Amino acid sequence: MKFVVTAGPTREYLDPVRFLSNPSTGKMGFAVARVAAMRGHEVVLVAGPVSLKTPKGVRRIDVTSARDMLAAVEEEMAKAKSGKPTIFVATAAVADWRPAKCAPRKLKKGQMSDTLKLVRNPDILKEIGRRTKTAQSPTRPIIHSPTYLVGFAAETNDVIAEARRKCREKNLDMIVANDVTEKGSGFGVDTNRVTLVRKDGSVDRLPLMTKLAVARRIVRECEDLCP
Ligand code: CTP
Repeated sequence: MKFVVTAGPTREYLDPVRFLSNPSTGKMGFAVARVAAMRGHEVVLVAGPVSLKTPKGVRRIDVTSARDMLAAVEEEMAKAKSGKPTIFVATAAVADWRPAKCAPRKLKKGQMSDTLKLVRNPDILKEIGRRTKTAQSPTRPIIHSPTYLVGFAAETNDVIAEARRKCREKNLDMIVANDVTEKGSGFGVDTNRVTLVRKDGSVDRLPLMTKLAVARRIVRECEDLCP
């Protein structure tokens, strides 16, 4: 199978030295990529700005913004050979907004206003879901292969209900939900306590595990998705 995995944060610049972002370190996505490669799959890792080493056997594409990440994912999904199942695992903490304008030179304090105008970024997972499960867009690369989509849901409350909503709205086969406020879960740490929510509504609450162990479980679930 081919795995396309997004990881890390995105950065949305307002001038060459300032950006909007979040504390994601990419650990969960890098663990998924590492495990999938160890299990003999073709793996492309589309990574935002993180300081992790590329796992062995993984092809890595470095990107900065959400729009760069979408373009790289689309290209990789379209490249997948017809008939070869492709799994898209979206672990990235994509910035939902970007500054409406990015100045070509550093903005001086006197040039900046107190309010920043933002515009919505594309939802990469939703976009890929729409294009693989429904009509193909004539202006975008065509995705030929059977595709399975796995998302993550970083929540601070109503974890399962929110995960179910995202699974439905983004057309996913499975969503991995976690409460980022819980001790040992979320950004930067080596462990995670996640709940798997599948398209058929079934739910598996996993204990606190290392991110590598969570990745093993996710890759196994992905292998089971393909007939
Ligand atoms: N995601 C994405 N592109 C975005 C936002 C999110 O691909 N612009 C993906 C994430 O990688 C994750 C899933 O969508 O797999 C859910 O992300 P999350 O941040 O939990 O939720 P949002 O869809 O951004 O919704 P909300 O901010 O309302 O919780």
